Amino acid sequence: MDILKSNSTSRILVAALLLTVVLILFKLSPDLISPNVEGVTHVLVTGGAGYIGSHAALRLLKDSYHRVTIVDNLSRGNMGAVKILQKLFPEPGRLQFIYADLGDAKTVNKIFAENAFDAVMHFAAVAYVGESTLEPLRYYHNITSNSLVVLEAMAAHNVKTLIYSSTCATYGEPTKMPITEETPQMPINPYGKAKKMSEDIIIDFSKTTNMAVMILRYFNVIGSDPDGRLGEAPRPELREHGRISSACFDAARGITPGLKVRGTDYKTADGTCVRDYIDVTDLVDAHVLALANAKPGKVGIYNVGTGKGRSVKEFVEACKKATGVDIKVDYLSRRPGDYAEVFSDPSKIRDELNWTAWRTDLQESLEIAWKWQKAHLNGYGPSMA
Ligand SMILES: NC(=O)c1ccc[n+]([C@@H]2O[C@H](COP(=O)([O-])OP(=O)(O)OC[C@H]3O[C@@H](n4cnc5c(N)ncnc54)[C@H](O)[C@@H]3O)[C@@H](O)[C@H]2O)c1
Repeated sequence: MDILKSNSTSRILVAALLLTVVLILFKLSPDLISPNVEGVTHVLVTGGAGYIGSHAALRLLKDSYHRVTIVDNLSRGNMGAVKILQKLFPEPGRLQFIYADLGDAKTVNKIFAENAFDAVMHFAAVAYVGESTLEPLRYYHNITSNSLVVLEAMAAHNVKTLIYSSTCATYGEPTKMPITEETPQMPINPYGKAKKMSEDIIIDFSKTTNMAVMILRYFNVIGSDPDGRLGEAPRPELREHGRISSACFDAARGITPGLKVRGTDYKTADGTCVRDYIDVTDLVDAHVLALANAKPGKVGIYNVGTGKGRSVKEFVEACKKATGVDIKVDYLSRRPGDYAEVFSDPSKIRDELNWTAWRTDLQESLEIAWKWQKAHLNGYGPSMA
């Protein structure tokens, strides 16, 4: 009787022990418990704590057929953005965050070995034109060399689909507008050159494999999540290199005394520079379509812009209306290296991927972004891993 009793007690103990082990494994690594499920695409989103990457992760996770692993070293992104995504998608196995530097090939290789990724969206990069002219080596290392690390890990672990974040800066200063995908790429700053080199490496490698590659060349990205969950929160120390929307919002919030517009004598309708502003929601739609349409052995290259150029003066007026603040504007002389006019011809992505920038409306996009800025005066707060 005693023997029987002790046998069933030990069985209960063993079962409890096994259950504990399973639960611990479940918590530590969703992959061990829920391996790739048929019909579910596990996407590695590099730079997913950043502005565009976090919006893309949100968009992917909204579809139940995606799982997301974010890899980010938080050098520029925000843990706050990741925490919001974790709160929205708490189910085990939906979202994983890995704090790692893509420059560390050993770690990257380990991440690929431990996860069965179906696709990579490679957003992670330092991404300020002005900064790239001051710290070129940092840009070549972070963009070109790290892309090589990612590509090598993809090759080693047989990951077959890559969506690459490129930029209109790879075109440089073309004389003919609008810019098509056939426009010669002649970048004029280290940022554009480093991205072009990454593109070249990816394209050359793709010729030797049946990898499915989509290269998206973004124009100027603005806006934020229409539901107010995510926003753009660059580090304060990057303000001096900042983009025009951040500069406008900083001026509207009184963080800076006003907005400095550099150059009023360009050969454009009102003398200020013309750019093609694209809402981040439209941009992430392009990524989802690119992922769905990526074909083995093919490289798709697409401009992602609206096809419409807007001048800095127009931008400032839209920003004044969006914020309701009569921002003080100082018109200064040109900044070296700025070009007059850049806008895309987006007909290729429209015809081949059925994508249009339906969401982008300069003032409305800025209104949405401003709403987030006002509700998050300190951005996402302190960013720590
Ligand atoms: N914002 C734009 O207007 C724009 C335009 C064209 C192209 N792009 C491209 O889009 C991508 C995303 O840009 P963003 O505006 O979201 O920038 P961002 O700075 O907000 O995000 C980049 C993210 O990458 C991470 N990161 C950087 N280096 C890393 C490394 N070595 N290891 C791991 N993580 C690293 C940063 O911490 C950050 O979270 C970039 O590749 C950029 O070149 C952006």
